[in-house]
Amino acid sequence: MTETYPVDTSVKPDVTMFFDPQSNTFSYVVKDPNSNACAIVDSVMDIDYAAGRISYEHADEIIKYVQDNDLNVEWLIETHVHADHLSAAPYIQEKVGGKLGIGENIVVVQETFGKVFNEGTEFQRDGSQFDKLFKEGDTYQIGGMTAFAMHTPGHTPACMTHVIGDAGFVGDTLFMPDGGSARADFPGGDAGVLYDSIQKVLSLPDETRLFMCHDYGPNGRDIEHLTSVKEEKENNIHVGGGKTREEFVKFRTERDAQLDMPKLIIPSLQVNMRAGSLPPADDQGDVFFKVPVNKL
Ligand SMILES: [Fe+2]
Repeated sequence: MTETYPVDTSVKPDVTMFFDPQSNTFSYVVKDPNSNACAIVDSVMDIDYAAGRISYEHADEIIKYVQDNDLNVEWLIETHVHADHLSAAPYIQEKVGGKLGIGENIVVVQETFGKVFNEGTEFQRDGSQFDKLFKEGDTYQIGGMTAFAMHTPGHTPACMTHVIGDAGFVGDTLFMPDGGSARADFPGGDAGVLYDSIQKVLSLPDETRLFMCHDYGPNGRDIEHLTSVKEEKENNIHVGGGKTREEFVKFRTERDAQLDMPKLIIPSLQVNMRAGSLPPADDQGDVFFKVPVNKL
C-alpha cells in the first residue's frame, strides 16, 4: 500500500515536542531541516474547566519557540477533532500565521455535534472554519518537504495520519506499543474501521518514526511520545504480533464499554468543531459553553 504514497524516508524533519500534562497531549513543531519552514501539529489551549477559565500558556510556549528560532509556520495541522483537549490553532495562527487544516470528514463531525449541542444554522457544518480540508492521499509542502495526509478513521470519522518525510503523526490512531490504541466508541467511531486504519499506518516503511498524540505512561513508566512502525508491528498490545481484526474488535468494544467520557469532552468538542475558536459571544460579548444533558 505504501507505493500509493510519496514516502521519502530520507527526509528527516526536526521534530520538537511540547507536552500538556493536564490532557497528556503532545504538540509538535515539525521543521524542514533545509529551511525555516515548519508545521505545528495538534496544539493545546489551557482550560480550568471548573472555573470556566481559558488561557494560553502552552500555546505561548510554542509561539515563543517559533519566534526564537525564526521559523516560518506554513501549516497548523489538526489530526482530528479531539475530545480531550481544546485546540489553540487559531490563537497561534493569529500570532505566527500558517494555514489550518483537518480531514475533510470534519463535516460529518460538525453535523453530529452541531445537533448534540443544538447549534443554530449560524454554525456552518461545511468545514469552512478551516483553511484546508485534507482528502485521502493529499500532498502538501512544508518548505522543501513533501507531506501527505492518510485518512485513518475509526477513532473518529475525520482522523488523518500526516506523514512528513520519515515522520508520521498518527493522532489517536495508535498509542505507544504498551498503550495499544484509542477508543472507538465516539459517534462515528468504529473498532473494525480503526483496525483497518492501523494496518494502513503499519504498511508504512518499518523505519518510519511514529509520533503519538497522547501517552498516559502505562504501568508507571515515564511518558513517551516516539516509536516506529517496526516496534508497533511487533509489540503493540492491541494490534501487534499479527492480532486479527476479530480479536481487536472484540477487545476494543468490551474495553470501550467500561471507559468514562474524557473530562474535557464538552468544552473540547464545542471548540474543536469550530477549528479551535470559542463559541460566538452573546450580545454582551460574553462566551458560554453548553452542557447537553444525557446526550453524550
Ligand atoms: Fe482523540
